[in-house]
Amino acid sequence: MLVLKFLLISIIICIDAKPNFVFILTDDQDLRLNSMTVMDKTLELVGAKGKTFENAFVSSPICCPSRSTILTGKYAHNTGVVNNSISGNCSSVYWQQNSEPYSVANLLKKRGLHHVLRWKVSKRSKNRVMVRKRVEAKNTYRRATTGGSALEGNSKYYNYNISVNGTGVYHEDDYLTDLLADHSLDFLRNRDTSGPFFMTVATPAAHAPFTPANRHNDSFPDLKALRNPSFNYSSTDKHWLIQMPPKHLPEDVTILDNVYRNRQETLLAVDEMVERIVKKLEDLEILDETYIIFSSDNGFHIGQFTQPWDKREPYETDIRIPLLISGPGVPANVSDRHPFTAIDIAPTILDLAGISVPSYMDGTSLKDVLLSDEAGSIAKHIFVEYWGEGSPRTVEKSCPWEYDDENLAVSVL
Ligand SMILES: *[C@@H]1O[C@H](CO)[C@@H](O)[C@H](O)[C@H]1NC(C)=O
Ligand SMILES: *[C@@H]1O[C@H](CO)[C@@H](O)[C@H](O)[C@H]1NC(C)=O
Ligand SMILES: *[C@@H]1O[C@H](CO)[C@@H](O)[C@H](O)[C@H]1NC(C)=O
Ligand SMILES: *[C@@H]1O[C@H](CO)[C@@H](O)[C@H](O)[C@H]1NC(C)=O
Ligand SMILES: *[C@@H]1O[C@H](CO)[C@@H](O)[C@H](O)[C@H]1NC(C)=O
Ligand SMILES: *[C@@H]1O[C@H](CO)[C@@H](O)[C@H](O)[C@H]1NC(C)=O
Ligand SMILES: *[C@@H]1O[C@H](CO)[C@@H](O)[C@H](O)[C@H]1NC(C)=O
Repeated sequence: MLVLKFLLISIIICIDAKPNFVFILTDDQDLRLNSMTVMDKTLELVGAKGKTFENAFVSSPICCPSRSTILTGKYAHNTGVVNNSISGNCSSVYWQQNSEPYSVANLLKKRGLHHVLRWKVSKRSKNRVMVRKRVEAKNTYRRATTGGSALEGNSKYYNYNISVNGTGVYHEDDYLTDLLADHSLDFLRNRDTSGPFFMTVATPAAHAPFTPANRHNDSFPDLKALRNPSFNYSSTDKHWLIQMPPKHLPEDVTILDNVYRNRQETLLAVDEMVERIVKKLEDLEILDETYIIFSSDNGFHIGQFTQPWDKREPYETDIRIPLLISGPGVPANVSDRHPFTAIDIAPTILDLAGISVPSYMDGTSLKDVLLSDEAGSIAKHIFVEYWGEGSPRTVEKSCPWEYDDENLAVSVL
């Protein structure tokens, strides 16, 4: 029976030496605050059809460094992307020359995979981000490598310009996630069928400003921020970071409840998008030869350890991400405990595509783990790094931090 299964898997892999990839990447979607519980369709169409990696982590809990790592299979200290500013190498010329050509999408393209890429990188922020106050000061835009669409400006859900092949198109009422779904379906319908494809869809959800689609406005009227054990918890025997003010959250945390509820509501449109993409793949009869990877660039916290809301921190809420993968040879409905980190995503995709993993990548291919029936539980050390953002003006004096603009923005002592 086992042999037969193995043979079957080998045959599938052999026949389909160059599978397609659909990579759906959400923004700031936590795992620990139960964001996946509102994504029934994704759980059914990707999760139950494939593997769910329970121990998936990013190696940098912030957008641009993490996305750069996911694209290249290299740690932030090797991509040089240390924060969301151009000066921190986010989409800098250095990145464009030294990393982008070697991103997983470009490596696949060189090997004859047609792809569309919708990616999100961040431009230099005018305002420095304060270390303690959770200010979103970054200015983000989405950039496309080949025949893709990119959002101009900050993360937004309505009333934005989208650049389609470099030409800006204004949208007032089209919900961005829905537009991405439409573009994805167009791409799949009109794709060049002479070879496989790699499609990335990077959604604005569940990033600030947390605007749900109008139709989802009041989907969860009674939902409140998750009161898990670390919610509003402060203690003097924890890290200095956790001991930073405020010491307690106020009694009225309506604002946190709203953030939580709105975030969950933004994900409903993502869930619908996943369903539309899967159904389209099915209609086109290419679902069986397509890997679907669903994940997020970093997690999020809302009230844990008395911190209002954000990512950027070395705790589980911020570094754990959802990771669901379905596709040829992936056993159905398996929850896998094997650790999977952001650096392993690019090597695994390359390996699944039959391309050898370049030695400069820090991650390793987890193809064998992915295709195995086992719910593995191999212990592994994972490495997480981030240098913080700030200025002498905003760094909290009582923190053991030192500002050093010549080198890194802030170094932890
Ligand atoms: C980017 O990273 C490289 C290597 O770490 C560094 O030499 C360079 O100064 C950084 N900044 C920019 C804007 O390229
Ligand atoms: C965008 O460019 C690609 C590749 O050049 C092309 O196939 C596609 O039709 C273009 N899309 C639009 C909407 O112009
Ligand atoms: C869209 O682009 C136009 C032309 O560049 C600009 O005038 C307008 O302010 C932009 N709108 C938004 C919402 O970014
Ligand atoms: C949803 O909420 C937004 C923001 O409060 C509002 O502008 C919009 O009209 C609402 N839509 C519906 C269908 O209630
Ligand atoms: C947080 O803890 C403080 C101190 O115990 C308490 O006064 C406040 O009501 C709590 N807030 C919430 C939302 O639990
Ligand atoms: C997936 O597995 C879970 C628990 O292991 C089970 O409850 C569920 O019914 C399974 N779903 C499918 C579609 O097989
Ligand atoms: C990002 O990193 C660069 C290089 O270390 C630094 O000059 C810049 O101030 C940092 N940006 C922020 C917002 O901290």
